[in-house]
Amino acid sequence: MDQLQQIKQRIDRLRSALDEHNHRYYVLSQPSVSDFEYDQLMQELINLETRYPEFFDENSPSQRIGSDITKDFQQVVHKNPMLSLANTYSLEELKEFETRAKKIVNEPYEYICELKYDGVSISLSYRNGLLIRAVTRGDGEKGDDVTANVKTIKSIPLKLRGNDYPDEFEIRGEILLPHEGFQKMNEERISRDEPLFANPRNAASGTLKMQNSSLVAKRPLDCLFYSITGNTLPYQQHFENLMKAKDWGFKITQHIKKCRSIDEVLGFVNEWEEKRKSLPFDIDGIVVKINSFDQQSRLGYTAKSPRWATAYKFKAEQVLTRLLSVDFQVGRTGAITPVANLEPVLLGGTTVKRASLHNADQIALLDIRINDLVYIEKGGEIIPKVVGVDKGKRDFHSKPLEYITHCPECGTKLIRLEGEAKHYCPNESGCPPQIKGRLIHFVSRKAMDIGLAEATVAQLYDHDLIKNVADFYSLRKEQLISLERFAEKSAENLIASIENSKKVPFHRVLYALGIRYVGETVAKTLAVEFGSIDAIENATVEKLISVDEIGERIAESINSYFADHENTDCIKRLKEHGLQFQINKAVQKGTTLSGKSLIISGVFSQHSREEIKEIIEQNGGKNVSSVSGNTDFLVAGKNIGPGKLEKAHKYGIPIISEEELLDMIREKKGS
Ligand code: IVH
Repeated sequence: MDQLQQIKQRIDRLRSALDEHNHRYYVLSQPSVSDFEYDQLMQELINLETRYPEFFDENSPSQRIGSDITKDFQQVVHKNPMLSLANTYSLEELKEFETRAKKIVNEPYEYICELKYDGVSISLSYRNGLLIRAVTRGDGEKGDDVTANVKTIKSIPLKLRGNDYPDEFEIRGEILLPHEGFQKMNEERISRDEPLFANPRNAASGTLKMQNSSLVAKRPLDCLFYSITGNTLPYQQHFENLMKAKDWGFKITQHIKKCRSIDEVLGFVNEWEEKRKSLPFDIDGIVVKINSFDQQSRLGYTAKSPRWATAYKFKAEQVLTRLLSVDFQVGRTGAITPVANLEPVLLGGTTVKRASLHNADQIALLDIRINDLVYIEKGGEIIPKVVGVDKGKRDFHSKPLEYITHCPECGTKLIRLEGEAKHYCPNESGCPPQIKGRLIHFVSRKAMDIGLAEATVAQLYDHDLIKNVADFYSLRKEQLISLERFAEKSAENLIASIENSKKVPFHRVLYALGIRYVGETVAKTLAVEFGSIDAIENATVEKLISVDEIGERIAESINSYFADHENTDCIKRLKEHGLQFQINKAVQKGTTLSGKSLIISGVFSQHSREEIKEIIEQNGGKNVSSVSGNTDFLVAGKNIGPGKLEKAHKYGIPIISEEELLDMIREKKGS
């Protein structure tokens, strides 16, 4: 054997050893080597692959660490649409499922009961034992090709085991983030001052859509499979095929049960209603399927879902715990949010210590008192909420909770506007959390996009360097260097980023000012309708209301914002620093692109991708994400994806550059 052959052999050995270790670790949860040994084998493989690129294999276990290439996802049409399941919420409805099925299938049948994983569905295609494509559910008909990201999930086999798998098949499953990984991820996000994920499903879905697969590789995603389709499957029953798929390397839970009667099914449902709390990941119900493919096809499908399956959904999980005290938080706008401090309790895999109490009305309605045992539930939000009280266990001497009358931060008397559930602290210019909140909002990504962490903004405020948003533009490097967080380089970067923010378009500056009720959309509307800050300042309430989407509440708020000298002084200073206080004529709302669909691809030189998209919208065009026969233009930047170019050629779609797009808009304006 020559040297090269020996190297190839070593690479092959390393690859199969690492595949085996991955399977044992991620699928079977029975690792047979230490992390250290694993890392050594991986390093040796990576070294050899780097030195001998001729042996590159896209399915090598080393490829699971992802790449940092940024890409748009290609859309792929599903061979078989990804349907949803009919939902039932009561055991009665589950019995009706049986009644309906029995009418059509006049013979004994088997039910398969499975957990309903609460994650993101994925469809994987395998050919000759290799993973060739991973596509998200999308709209059910077509989804995003996320193969590169999916390949980083270690429990998904890139190469199948054994030799009795079909040449071609599709397997579907749910990508999820186990509780432990979710908690760790959010803790890291807290330390980096990044927004938290509300739940593991959102986190999994956000991760899967990340453009940089090497970042995906760092997130502990997992995948559990629940259905296989193909023309040459070994069995004509769902359950038997799934069990076989285990041998090929797929992760299939053992919490799956064949039942012969609906009573057995109900037993499974009841069992998991309680036991789900002990699972390391979220499930939101139980799926019941009829096992035989023949019986499935006799039952058929409705437009959206199969008649041979149904999902019993659990009610949101609740726990009972003690309310220790209530904090009143003051937000950026001065809104007061009551937050419950609880005796720590486990809910949906995470420990909950705090929960939202919404507002004074809700507290009065539920008659929540300190020391009560309260029910906590997780909704779609980050903070769980208090949804009820166990009054039977109430302390005999307890008194109704008294809502605060004065701001806990600055002592100002709180107000409550008509029709609003929340109390407000009206001391906008003197209440520290409101000032800090406005500063943080001002620098945030969708506003001025000055890369500053919340804690740093607070530090600048606490050191008296910044009292209002105009002060950012007077900051000097020497002032920053004297602070704890700053070194020479980071101070320079911040000053540069502040300078750069002077180019931020008017509508975002308007949003950045933090006028109450002027969110991103309202700011855009105002910018387009009025064109400049002066025109908005001078507009009467009536004039403001005459604009679509601007109601009295918004108009009044704008008016009182400009009535306050502190605000107009601040705007004056910002103007002097050169911020954009009128709309850029080149992007004023036009109709040049009315009714046109444009797709952008690649990197642009004059504008960011987001800006190009905005320009298209400002001129009446529509941004689309995939090339089709209905696309009017492809706006091509540098490093454009070859797939998109090819498709554009195929459909005869005109390809234009960034300059040509901008010219097109200017020309029409001038004429
Ligand atoms: S079977 C034809 N089984 O629930 C429908 N789906 O509402 C095939 N899901 O999009 C789906 N666990 O993402 C099936 N054990 C399970 C499931 C499951 C979770 C998800 C799946 C699907 C959605 C349907």
